[in-house]
Amino acid sequence: MYKLAVFVSGRGSNLKAIHNQIVNGSLNAEISVVVSNSQNAKAIDFAKEQNITFYIISKEKGEEFFVTYEELTDKLVLKNINLIVLAGFLKKIPSELIVKFRHRIINIHPALLPSFGGKGMYGINVHQAVFNSSAKVSGATIHFVDEIYDNGKIIAQQSVDISDVASPEEISERVLKIEHELLPNTIKKFVENKIKITENRIFIDS
Ligand code: GRF
Repeated sequence: MYKLAVFVSGRGSNLKAIHNQIVNGSLNAEISVVVSNSQNAKAIDFAKEQNITFYIISKEKGEEFFVTYEELTDKLVLKNINLIVLAGFLKKIPSELIVKFRHRIINIHPALLPSFGGKGMYGINVHQAVFNSSAKVSGATIHFVDEIYDNGKIIAQQSVDISDVASPEEISERVLKIEHELLPNTIKKFVENKIKITENRIFIDS
């Protein structure tokens, strides 16, 4: 079975979208672990409800789910995780983890990279910047994670018309809808071994 580790920081709607595609049989994978930097993330409540193993990255001790990045990396290797999916994870991934999982960590960004990315560009900040730019389209991007924020090679993108929106929140709603399709669909391509990495571009076999 293809094993996913899903990293989350907040509400977890993308985590649920992945879970739904697994439950309905469209995605042949399992969410082996959910990882968060926050014990209070709604996404962690969901992991608990679904009996999915979860870890909280923290220096705290006293609960077996508290782990340092070093401990987490060992656990992910031991569990034979095939793909790490950052689904609304707000912290920078340390380079030791990136090196161990090179080309096996993907992130979803709620805009069309390479625009509107980088440090501080998360959540509503992204949609506010897109709104302020008066761009007519936005969308979602899935890219590999490397040592620099939102910098890794782009794997997949989907755009949405925002020419008639009246607020950043409206952009956020439209983009989120797309994210919930694009993320499970792209994971499926990984499961099916259809992602081809070349020096300059990432190709997806049909
Ligand atoms: C998504 O828009 C994701 O692209 C962004 O943060 C949001 C997370 O939403 N980086 P959720 O936690 O999956 O509901």
